[in-house]
Amino acid sequence: MIKMIEQIDNSIVLFSIKNEYLEVVVSNYGCTIKSIRMNDIYGNVSDVVLGYDDMTTYKISDGYLGAIVGRVANRIKNGHFILNDKEYHLAINNGPNHLHGGINGFSYQVFNYAIINDDTIEFYYLSNDMEEGYPGNLTIKVTYQLDKQTLIMRYWAVSDQDTLLNLTNHSYFNLSGKADSILNHQLQVNADRFACIDENGLPNGEFRNVFATPFDFSERTLISDALKQEDQQLRLARGIDHSFIFNKNNNQVVLWHQESGRRLTVSSTLPTAHIYTANYLDGRVGKYGQHYYPQSAICIETQFMADSIHLEDIPKVILKKGQVYEESTSYTFEVINHEES
Ligand code: BGC
Repeated sequence: MIKMIEQIDNSIVLFSIKNEYLEVVVSNYGCTIKSIRMNDIYGNVSDVVLGYDDMTTYKISDGYLGAIVGRVANRIKNGHFILNDKEYHLAINNGPNHLHGGINGFSYQVFNYAIINDDTIEFYYLSNDMEEGYPGNLTIKVTYQLDKQTLIMRYWAVSDQDTLLNLTNHSYFNLSGKADSILNHQLQVNADRFACIDENGLPNGEFRNVFATPFDFSERTLISDALKQEDQQLRLARGIDHSFIFNKNNNQVVLWHQESGRRLTVSSTLPTAHIYTANYLDGRVGKYGQHYYPQSAICIETQFMADSIHLEDIPKVILKKGQVYEESTSYTFEVINHEES
């Protein structure tokens, strides 16, 4: 069932999408996922994503808590690219680079909305030619559908000129239901390779095999076992803030919190998961009066390769005029008995 639960001003609204397993609260502001409530193994319901109590804080904060990120998620080297022999300059908002669509990217835009049916809501937005420096009038649609234990996010877009597009959702998960450290969570990532970064978090062009590194999550691994290792890549990012390249045909990441029995499975049509252990959360106040510190959550941002425009021979991030961009990512939340887990 979908219900509008709050109209904050003339433009910002909150919707609850609810079934017997989950209640997801979303806003048309940045298509933000504000809360996801689910049971634990003992039947206690709690909220497994970070966020803020009021929508005003989303407007003035960085961190992209729960938001859709675009036009281009992640970093673009020096905020500069060449497309069809034309140079484009974007906002430099992260060291020397462009991050997450710029100053007023999609996370900070008010979307229109339409309730499609009992379990699906659609948000749509027209991003004007040269908005945040990107070419083309771009129409985007983001739908959220709740199907049993799964939240399905579908992205659709089309542009009237060649442009760049790389959408993701930037939810911060903590399956304990509190903003405690996620070091006690376990992670499995179907990726044999990850992208090394420089001191500004930008992929430096080296793709390393995860084998014998702290980035080997090919088997289910306790996050603390990875983060306690002495490693230059971990040091540069103050934790994990790296893109994992999915092995073919199984774009999946699984996160467990054993104590609560909660398990999240992220599945996507997108080829990469940028995994970020919230290393730059700064003690800010979030929901329920909690303070959010580094490593109090984990983001699993499915996307095309970071800085694809510079790193890929045929950059997947280019969306040709008239071509339809269609991708989807789903979050499945389950409660697993201790014996089974
Ligand atoms: C980036 C981080 C950044 C965070 C919040 C992540 O996707 O990789 O470096 O601090 O988003 O902006």
